[in-house]
Amino acid sequence: MLPCDPQVQDSLPAGTLIDDRYRLVRLLRKGGMGEIYAGEHVHTHKRVAIKLLREPWSREPITRERFKREAQATSQIVHEHIVETLDFGVTPEGVCYLVMELLYGEDLQATLLREGRLPLRRAADIVQQICSALAEAHRHGIIHRDLKPANCFRVGFRGVQDFIKLIDFGIAKRLPRGVDNISQESVALTAEGTIMGTSFYMAPEQSTGGPIDHRIDVYAAGVVLFQLVTGKLPFRGPTAADTYRQILTADVPSARKLAPEAELPAAVDELFRKALHKRPERRFASMDELAAAIAAVVAAKDRSKGDSAAGAVRAAAAESRRGLQLVGTVALMAALVTALVIALVMGR
Ligand SMILES: Nc1ncnc2c1ncn2[C@@H]1O[C@H](COP(=O)(O)OP(=O)(O)O)[C@@H](O)[C@H]1O
Ligand SMILES: [Mg+2]
Repeated sequence: MLPCDPQVQDSLPAGTLIDDRYRLVRLLRKGGMGEIYAGEHVHTHKRVAIKLLREPWSREPITRERFKREAQATSQIVHEHIVETLDFGVTPEGVCYLVMELLYGEDLQATLLREGRLPLRRAADIVQQICSALAEAHRHGIIHRDLKPANCFRVGFRGVQDFIKLIDFGIAKRLPRGVDNISQESVALTAEGTIMGTSFYMAPEQSTGGPIDHRIDVYAAGVVLFQLVTGKLPFRGPTAADTYRQILTADVPSARKLAPEAELPAAVDELFRKALHKRPERRFASMDELAAAIAAVVAAKDRSKGDSAAGAVRAAAAESRRGLQLVGTVALMAALVTALVIALVMGR
């Protein structure tokens, strides 16, 4: 049984039963409004992840509804790079829970903390997977709204080092376009003017509570790539207000200058200027466009690598030519000296 005392905020002990169906095994992470546990199905013993919305939030109609929409949003989208939602329910004590596939690995935030920054090719591969996941969500009329490294999970999969699963559609928004069963309540939940998301990754229109569409996810994916390749955020002030001011007014900084050691190609700054453009209509129009631009930047880097490799080969060839010339000159001089010595000896 779950404690339902509103004061009880501690994590729940291993063995706690949720709705008589799932058993908690261990706490994985304490989140903003609840916790994520590793658990198992009581009968099948299938290992799962269980997200619990705890008191007092599980009593708030608005957070309960949002939590339910996370379950609905993720259940609709079946994609290899989006965490699979398995179940959703409310316990007799009124606690909402969401059951997902259990992911083994770490989120990208943890990776960044450990590694600082990632090589361009690796970062590009990761963000392209994120792009494909978001493109699928957008096809379903769902925008994530809270894309950030902590919401991208790296799992080991079939020997792939960086297989990404997008998680946490907790504040996802359904676009009215092409969506038939959108309730008034859910519209109210995501009404314009409500600012949701994590400030560093928020597009200007999102940070001011203006009208938003899928291009806020394009923007956030651009910020994630920026952070992965430079190890730094494009806009970060000493206070949240200062960060917002930069998001709204500052130019996109040069990633190449911020991380010269990464040896990024010139095209990368162009990509970030477009992905992080203040005006959504000047950004990449879709996740697929952003993914294609990322591929072009990687190709530019490979070319410049190829150019510098070709340059090195040319320099080595010139060097060896110079070496050969030197050997030739020395040999000629030796031959002349030998001939002179012979002539002198013969002449005696
Ligand atoms: N299915 C899962 N398997 C393993 N760990 C997970 C899973 N879902 C979330 N986590 C971990 O828990 C953290 C918080 O989960 P998230 O869904 O982002 O909740 P919150 O709304 O609190 O941010 C994630 O950053 C990740 O490290
Ligand atoms: Mg999260």
